[in-house]
Amino acid sequence: MADGFIEVARADDLPPGRLLRVTVDGHDYLLANVDGTLYATDDLCTHEDASLATGALHGTCVSCPLHGSRFDLRTGEPLEEPATVPLKTYPVTVRDGAILLRPGG
Ligand code: FES
Repeated sequence: MADGFIEVARADDLPPGRLLRVTVDGHDYLLANVDGTLYATDDLCTHEDASLATGALHGTCVSCPLHGSRFDLRTGEPLEEPATVPLKTYPVTVRDGAILLRPGG
């Protein structure tokens, strides 16, 4: 798409309160639906090798399944250790029932 957004999932795949991992060009992204608002970050925890899509959603935060650090999905910032490095965040939107992500940010 000319604006850099690409379809990564159908909106039906991500109901409110759910997390979803999608892969684009070999890179894993985390999608989250918080009460109808979508967020996109990297899926890999910045601490060690854990997929955040297998973690838990708490409000606008996702908690890592391995050591429990929470990240704010709006900013990518970790809220406590052991993670200290923010997640990258990405623009995400819904058009015509498709979830669109802009991988370049
Ligand atoms: S791997 Fe995520 S907090 Fe350690």
